[in-house]
Amino acid sequence: MVRRRVAILISGRGSNMAALVEAARQPEYPAEIALVIANRADAAGLDYAASAGIPTAFFSHKAYPSRQAFDAALDAALRAADIELVCLAGFMRLLTGGFVEAWRDRLINIHPSLLPLFPGLHTHEAALAAGVKLHGCTVHFVRSAVDSGPIIAQAAVPVLSGDTPDTLAARVLVGEHRIYPLALALLARGALRIVDERVEIDPALGEEAQEPLVAPSIPQ
Ligand code: GRF
Repeated sequence: MVRRRVAILISGRGSNMAALVEAARQPEYPAEIALVIANRADAAGLDYAASAGIPTAFFSHKAYPSRQAFDAALDAALRAADIELVCLAGFMRLLTGGFVEAWRDRLINIHPSLLPLFPGLHTHEAALAAGVKLHGCTVHFVRSAVDSGPIIAQAAVPVLSGDTPDTLAARVLVGEHRIYPLALALLARGALRIVDERVEIDPALGEEAQEPLVAPSIPQ
């Protein structure tokens, strides 16, 4: 089996990155995490990646005169490492249209809401303010508009009375750690086709994706 070479871009904690790294430890997983890049030196996830033996890089966006220059440096690092697929995992920088187009259909992101609801920041606060009874997370291909793009996988969790943004975020995060490795596996295996900006999953290659992606656990 050919394992696709994947880079993960992070800015902080890196728990989704860690979930991808853990999944990729399985011999049958179709991707290897070949590089982790952070735009903040204090991103906790960098230590985790380094201790897992994964090459890491740090690019301070403050060291570049423009977004284009920063993205060009990122792009060069990815190409130098023969990266084929890129996962954004809590990467808190907007990427330029040029970068997004250069990696079109090879660049995916995880967002902590059931898109297209609640793009942007503070999604858990927004979900509580809206009074929705279901909330969740989405893995999607990246397009230029923020938090848009064809949806690969979603997980839903209940919103419970008494929830705070933190309790809700913790419940959603369980779903994030479940669907991101699944979505990357489908992409790496070539199981995804984009038709009219919607994702179709090849039933022969993506059997596990046919299972319902719903609440991973419903607390009593
Ligand atoms: C996650 O909630 C992710 O959905 C969002 O940023 C957060 C990153 O968390 N994009 P972590 O760094 O993966 O722990």
